[in-house]
Amino acid sequence: MKKILLMIVAVMAIGINSFAFNPPDEGMWLPIFVDRLNYTDMQKMGLQLTAEEIYSINNSSIKDAIVGLSGSATPSGYFCTGEIVSDKSLLFTNHHCGYDIIQQHSSVEHNYLRDGFWARSFDEELPNEALSASFLVRMDDVTDSIVPFLSDTMTEGQRSAKVRELQGKLKESANEDGKYNVVVKSFFEGNEYYRFIYLVYTDVRLVGAPPSDIGKYGGDTDNWMWPRHTGDFSIFRVYSAPDGSPADYSEDNVPLTPKHHLPVSIKGVEKDDFAMIWGYPGSTNRYMTSYGVRFALDHSNPTLIDILGKSLEIMKEDMDADEEVEIKYASTYAGLANYWKYLIGQSRGVKHLDVYGKKKALEDKFIAWIGQNQERKENYGEALDLIESGYSQHEDPFAMFMYYNFALMSPAIINYAQEFTQLEKQLEEIKDNPEAPGQTIEYLREGMAEYFKDYNAPTDEKMLAGMYAMFAKNIPVESQPEFLKGITKKYKGDYNKFAADVFSKSIFASEEKLNTFFDNPKVKILTKDPAYKLSGQVMEGFMSSLAAYYSSQSDLDKGSRLFVAGLMEMESDKVFYPDANSTMRLSYGSVQDYYPADAVHYDYVTHLYGVMEKEDTTNPEFIVPKKLKELFEAKDFGRYGKDGQLVTCFLTTNDITGGNSGSPVINGNGELIGLAFDGNWEAMSGDIAFEPELQRTICVDSRYVLFIIDKFAGAQNLIDELTIIE
Ligand code: ARG
Repeated sequence: MKKILLMIVAVMAIGINSFAFNPPDEGMWLPIFVDRLNYTDMQKMGLQLTAEEIYSINNSSIKDAIVGLSGSATPSGYFCTGEIVSDKSLLFTNHHCGYDIIQQHSSVEHNYLRDGFWARSFDEELPNEALSASFLVRMDDVTDSIVPFLSDTMTEGQRSAKVRELQGKLKESANEDGKYNVVVKSFFEGNEYYRFIYLVYTDVRLVGAPPSDIGKYGGDTDNWMWPRHTGDFSIFRVYSAPDGSPADYSEDNVPLTPKHHLPVSIKGVEKDDFAMIWGYPGSTNRYMTSYGVRFALDHSNPTLIDILGKSLEIMKEDMDADEEVEIKYASTYAGLANYWKYLIGQSRGVKHLDVYGKKKALEDKFIAWIGQNQERKENYGEALDLIESGYSQHEDPFAMFMYYNFALMSPAIINYAQEFTQLEKQLEEIKDNPEAPGQTIEYLREGMAEYFKDYNAPTDEKMLAGMYAMFAKNIPVESQPEFLKGITKKYKGDYNKFAADVFSKSIFASEEKLNTFFDNPKVKILTKDPAYKLSGQVMEGFMSSLAAYYSSQSDLDKGSRLFVAGLMEMESDKVFYPDANSTMRLSYGSVQDYYPADAVHYDYVTHLYGVMEKEDTTNPEFIVPKKLKELFEAKDFGRYGKDGQLVTCFLTTNDITGGNSGSPVINGNGELIGLAFDGNWEAMSGDIAFEPELQRTICVDSRYVLFIIDKFAGAQNLIDELTIIE
């Protein structure tokens, strides 16, 4: 193993420009290797900056303007990417990235989802309890501090325990007494490890968002599709303590002075223009085998599509009937709908593009290569067998875990009741510690308002009925947990009756009932509560399904690690890039059109007139705001239009995935030309196999973004902050 790694490193060191197999657009590259692996190529394609200007740990560089967005103060992954665009740390990301936060600030009285939101001064910016922006300080290769301490005789369990222990030490030694958040991650299926050191800012405020009729224009119909006309952006600002260090929200905090901010170009894009995208892609499976493809097509995708489809159906019915419910569930719904359509598109794409066949061909080559000598047989001979058996062991635990996660745990009442387990214990011990429940109750009472703000009991009741019925129907009786069999028996298979019973009796069904309980908390009320009891049973089942899920993965883990190591040896003249894993990556390519099907050509830009063409006053996804129509009719595009047109979105060949949402699209001069926000339908298999001819990144043009801020919202205060390149 060690030898292989050394070889790979050697190949990487001399391998400048050896893209024998990778077209340049494919690959999510680690910025520390850019100088060595990609720089010459990027220059040829139009990059004007020096390598030091794009990634440096000593001087300010592009990397300092890129942030990972998370809900945590010590994140190990990021739901989206943002970029700093002013010297006061104004931050751009997608509207769909800010969606949950915009939703949290929305109510029927202040419906920012519907109407948009614009802070006209710093003091109108809205603080957020759980939103952080991570800046990467530096990263390093720590493979040699981990891999030599692992051995082939270890079980997978021992191996991961050892990895965790070593990761812990590596984090500890770099966090400088908690100043930094340190993350160590596995690359190439556990063949390499890298460490990332971040400064995490936890005071990030909402500054601006267009109405959803712009920011989510086209809705779920247009999602994952081109041609697109969505103004998918929102604006935040990072605050720091007066000395520039990270600090939780305080009135004394000031806008952070960033090391670097991106200028915004409104010069416009042309076909073939160089484009690079920086950000935090979440996960890809480019080294997935044909067995994995079969597993996705036959098991994982259909299971998830079924479960998610059902919960979407339940939510949608109530959302359509009531604006208040619509606001409450908007963000949850959008997230699930996005994933659901992704899975459908992925299965379609995988079949359509014969990804299985392509993977199989590579494996045949691999098997032949192994067959050529004994050492290879010893090192990699069992890789594919392990993967094959791994998937079959994984099938049932996978389904069970998914059903727990997305069906049994999905009614909010189940999760919420869990938060009361501590209180139960304290109420039991009340004599020993009379103060304790008081504090816990206070804490729970505080959280209650927030919980009920986004809660609609009738919808949750339907969720309980629908999801439990689905579980009972689709999971064979012999595998079902006892409590579910009990429910089926007691209610004679009528899950509506079961749910109605739970909701009529539980204290968790309304704020009112819960308040009554808080006024006079009795342990018996809690332990007899049907939702509380059920929640305990579900949680127990969930935990054991999780354990089974993980332990069923050990053959897969080992097989994949060997397979990737073998592939790297087999194709040693090729430069490999690691799968996405929520670490900072750079991808580069160009502005480009495509041919989605025989005789069909898709241009690389869309225009504001396309927004008007798609307008449908009977469909909530295609409503055009009045003001936008007026600006269009008057052709009042300001400096953002050209030849009487305004560009809305454009396409590039960059290699991105979920987590890259909000990522800056940067031209050869280091200027922002747009924000990446989606992928295209014809290449939805892209996370498993990159399709150079078909795969495109969908971006909102910076001119459309600035036009909306300036002309539509009249937020001159924000325009004045930007460094605009005309
Ligand atoms: N497909 C996009 C992504 O995963 C999200 C688009 C959000 N828009 C929407 N209509 N739900 O990044």
